[in-house]
Amino acid sequence: MTQVRGRAGPVWGDDTGAAGGAGQACPAADISIVVPCYNERANVRPLVAALYQALAGRAWEVIFVDDSSPDGTIDEVRAMAERDGRVRGLLRVGRRGLSSAVIEGVLSSSARIVAVMDGDMQHDESCLGRLIDAVAHDGYDIAVGSRHVAGGDNAGLANGWRTFLSDSGIRLVQMILPVRLGDPMSGFFAMRRDLFERTVPRLSGTGFKILLDVFLSAPQRPRVLEVPFVFRPRAAGESKLDILVLMQFVAMLADKICRGFLPTRFIAFSLVGLVGILVNLAVLDIGRRFGADFTTGQWLGTLVAMVTNFWMNNALTYRDRRLRGGRMWLGLGLFMIICSAGAVADVGIARAIFSRDGEWRLAGAAGAAIAVVWNYAVSSTLIWRVR
Ligand code: GDD
Ligand code: MN
Repeated sequence: MTQVRGRAGPVWGDDTGAAGGAGQACPAADISIVVPCYNERANVRPLVAALYQALAGRAWEVIFVDDSSPDGTIDEVRAMAERDGRVRGLLRVGRRGLSSAVIEGVLSSSARIVAVMDGDMQHDESCLGRLIDAVAHDGYDIAVGSRHVAGGDNAGLANGWRTFLSDSGIRLVQMILPVRLGDPMSGFFAMRRDLFERTVPRLSGTGFKILLDVFLSAPQRPRVLEVPFVFRPRAAGESKLDILVLMQFVAMLADKICRGFLPTRFIAFSLVGLVGILVNLAVLDIGRRFGADFTTGQWLGTLVAMVTNFWMNNALTYRDRRLRGGRMWLGLGLFMIICSAGAVADVGIARAIFSRDGEWRLAGAAGAAIAVVWNYAVSSTLIWRVR
């Protein structure tokens, strides 16, 4: 990682090495604007110019965090930093990611307040002053630039598909948020740096949603103010949001929802169980097509699901204590014996439901579900010996 610090000419002048001299050499910034950027070369200069206008009279600096953009964004930042002490560049090598870029940018700051904004001019810099004042003077921990409160607008979202994704994501997120927020997906905010620093150890740090990550990880419930702004269309360059970013978003939410609440192993086992139910149903269906009666079909489905469940759990759920060779076969044997009891219940329940209302899918699934619960409870302790 390389840091670039701009020189401000004579301001740095008196560098005689006298103790205490450094403090007088250059006034420190109260506010660091952290700007994650990837291929934003054309936007660097306009953004700095916009900041000068918007933050006139304040002691600010801007930290561009660039992940070695192929378009040479950092060169543009460096060119400016050479002449302007307010401009800093943080170059990351072999890394990618908006959230982690923001985290490292904030950690490189010593200012009392940090603000985060995009490097593509989509965030309205004229709103920055209000965000900063809310934290600096009005006692808020975090101030969020919001596209979803009165006066705000979403006009800059690329198309209808993105608007739909964004709206559904927001609704999903609002269900688990500790605070009321119109636009929890915003990437435009100001906050107390010390609070951010205390939050860092608990951050997921993946994907695009650093603000959401902060809210879900903060050690205390933050006092929040939302300030409306108009999300502008991109002037230059292109969006980096893609399917991978969406997957990271889902992974971050799962991580946040489940941590300290449901053990990861239980979630994995349940997912395997779900696949087991599908396997069971598929085999039952095939069996019936070949003329097997319901009971035979369900026995067959149960057996096949038992083997595939064992294999999947051994490979995924209990990956860290995976059984191999002889112990694996022994484990499979034990698994089948344990599950046989569950299977008896499985087929019994499935038959009861089937004979009552003839719903073979419901019957098969209910039977398999009972077997999965049994499998989890017993095999976890006896086969993979999880304490
Ligand atoms: N360092 C770094 N590394 N910066 C990145 C990376 C990365 O991997 N990916 C994106 N960025 C930078 C972009 O260069 C831009 O300055 C900013 O992060 C936002 O990226 P865009 O690709 O322009 O995002 P967007 O316009 O689709 O998303 C915006 O809207 C979201 C809400 O819908 C952003 O404001 C998000 O923060 C916001 O959550
Ligand atoms: Mn953008």
